[in-house]
Amino acid sequence: MADAKNKVIVEELIQDELKSKTPKYNESSKVVKMEKLGLQDLPGVGAATAEKLEAAGFRDLLSVAVATLGELVETAGVTEAVARKMINAARDSMKMGFETGMDVLRKREGVSKFSTGSEAFNALMGGGFETGAITECFGEFGSGKTQIGHLLCVNVLKDDPEAHVVYIDTENTFRPERIKQFAEGADLDVEDTLNRIMVARAFNSDHQMLLAEKVESLIAEQGKKVRLVVVDSLTSHFRAEFIGRGTLAERQQKLNRHMHTLSKIANTNNICVYVTNQVMAKPDQFFGDPTQAIGGHVVAHASTFRIYLRKGKKGTRVAKLIDAPNLADGEVCFEVQEGGLKDIN
Ligand code: GTP
Ligand code: MG
Repeated sequence: MADAKNKVIVEELIQDELKSKTPKYNESSKVVKMEKLGLQDLPGVGAATAEKLEAAGFRDLLSVAVATLGELVETAGVTEAVARKMINAARDSMKMGFETGMDVLRKREGVSKFSTGSEAFNALMGGGFETGAITECFGEFGSGKTQIGHLLCVNVLKDDPEAHVVYIDTENTFRPERIKQFAEGADLDVEDTLNRIMVARAFNSDHQMLLAEKVESLIAEQGKKVRLVVVDSLTSHFRAEFIGRGTLAERQQKLNRHMHTLSKIANTNNICVYVTNQVMAKPDQFFGDPTQAIGGHVVAHASTFRIYLRKGKKGTRVAKLIDAPNLADGEVCFEVQEGGLKDIN
């Protein structure tokens, strides 16, 4: 008698468990809602494989849905057939993701624009550096990429007294002294300003990728109101670690994953992501500007706004907007000064 009762209870528990794992269909659109599903719900993924996947940066179904077969085979140690099943299942579970143009317009109303301190530069950017987007500045050494990163930190913190910013520093060029100067220039309390900047030094590309992934938990677990994430520089570790043509594909694949993380941070949390990038000489260019940004199409396409910085005459700097979804291309000239940027007509 007791056994039969237990059996019923166990069966109910199993049913509940199954129900919680079964995709729920939205009656009107038949769009599958599976937000609750995790890596372990994918076919062929047990606890050990899930752990390996997580260690390699695959945290959710979306990351598996957009992964390549090779990546999964390598990181999770599964066969190609299983990897294919995992990807297909993850893709099937994704929400359709369509929204109306009005929804997008409403979302755009929530976009904030952060000042560079230069009126002309802000105007070039349609008001400033946008949240919900990745803005990339590329240019030669000393062109002002890091200075702009520091200035953005101060201006974001000035804009909102509760805001925090994250600075991922790969070249050891974050300078609190410089923040102090800019904060004083903006009439801000220096200590409070520095306290709201969370700096992390990235020692290699994997570390850099991990730090970027941690931003989401900083927001979720510590409840920090992060408004800006700076990655300075985006490409230096990748460039140093992957040398030679043979490693190019792997480098681009990793960079792609990193850009994907940054883009997700920007979009899902309405954060402004600012990345700096170096340039290299184009060996086959004889006319015009012989420099090009590192990272190729992967970085170019993932960045929403791209700015080319170069040194102008008499110590000035020139910023040229070369790619933006809704702004005209243009150029502005400014000078980096102790307290911030100064427009040059
Ligand atoms: P790399 O990281 O080497 O590729 O260069 P970058 O583009 O990040 O250059 P960065 O932003 O570090 O710019 C350095 C330049 O900013 C210097 O050459 C100076 O012209 C200027 N600068 C930096 N600090 C000060 C300062 O305290 N006062 C003034 N007037 N200019 C400064
Ligand atoms: Mg720099």
